[in-house]
Amino acid sequence: VNTTSTDASGSFLHLVIGGAGFIGSVLTDKLLIQGVPIVVIDNNLMGRCDIEEQRHSSSNYKIWNMDISSQQARDLFHKNYKNYEIVIWHLAANSDIQSSATRPELDYDVTLGSTIGLVSLIDGLRISAIFFASTSAVYGDLISHKYSHELSPCTPISYYGAMKLASENILSIASERMGFPLTIFRFANIVGMPSTHGVLHDFIEKLIYSPEVLEVLGDGSQSKTYLHVGILVDFMIEAFNNQKTGLYNIGPGDDGMRVSQIAELLQIHFPTKFRIEYGFTPHGWPGDVVTSRMNVDRMKKDFLNNSKSSSYAVHRAIHDMLDHISISYTCPQLFSQVV
Ligand SMILES: NC(=O)c1ccc[n+]([C@@H]2O[C@H](COP(=O)([O-])OP(=O)(O)OC[C@H]3O[C@@H](n4cnc5c(N)ncnc54)[C@H](O)[C@@H]3O)[C@@H](O)[C@H]2O)c1
Repeated sequence: VNTTSTDASGSFLHLVIGGAGFIGSVLTDKLLIQGVPIVVIDNNLMGRCDIEEQRHSSSNYKIWNMDISSQQARDLFHKNYKNYEIVIWHLAANSDIQSSATRPELDYDVTLGSTIGLVSLIDGLRISAIFFASTSAVYGDLISHKYSHELSPCTPISYYGAMKLASENILSIASERMGFPLTIFRFANIVGMPSTHGVLHDFIEKLIYSPEVLEVLGDGSQSKTYLHVGILVDFMIEAFNNQKTGLYNIGPGDDGMRVSQIAELLQIHFPTKFRIEYGFTPHGWPGDVVTSRMNVDRMKKDFLNNSKSSSYAVHRAIHDMLDHISISYTCPQLFSQVV
């Protein structure tokens, strides 16, 4: 990292934990465009440290393949970055939510563990702000209310959601005690490239291996909201630039899309014909949220950015993903007409 621009009196050093993952790598790219120095810590659980290292030649960028909870990470920061004003983006978590349905220790170790590790690491460092990637999964299934807002009750139905909620609380306590500003984002489902998981990622991966049939987990009625990763990262950077703190739902604020609609949209785009086979239960796996919708009034009031609709996000992500694997496709409508 270019130390000349990051001394204690100068600009901030950005620490992106989980910065070799899906959202983290897009965030890192956009922060680098702003010219800020960045240190990425990623333990390669889902991330791709080698690819990320090759992609960046900037002297403002340094990536370390290590666990944020490790002694190695603690030593690194306390030896090298003690005098820096550090802005932290905490994106580390277990993203394999289906696996953790039967292995709660995964979310305990990774999703909560990375948060505990972070809180113990920062003791004695100069922390300017922490931005935490939480999730709509903290709300659980939407039952009695139409949209979850930031003060709605949180009744997660997955270990992942529960450990994210616990992480929010741990960070809030640390923020209170250590005096750093905290921003918690509860993201909708994020789509785009370079995805490491999620419904579109699963669908396209399945179709590459078995092009005639798309097996859908659940009966396709799951209805969730979607946001494109490029737009999400613009929100995150806007929050940093304008010092937004507190709790924000980040999503399109619409009724979302059903999984069956996503499968059908992919069917229209895909160059080869495939049939869709649905499961029989609304939940695709234990802990899968059937209906998720968030009220984003607070986000709309405080941010200039426009989230666009769930169908825009999914549609744009289908294009991104098929382009990425060089599959030619036909788009059913002019993409510019999707809002
Ligand atoms: N993608 C979504 O739809 C979505 C929705 C809501 C919330 N989120 C949250 O946003 C964050 C980023 O999500 P993503 O989709 O980019 O996931 P991702 O799995 O692609 O990225 C997470 C990264 O964290 C790394 N990591 C995990 N534990 C670590 C540890 N202890 N130390 C260092 N690195 C560690 C992984 O290797 C991975 O690269 C996650 O916290 C996720 O829970 C994502």
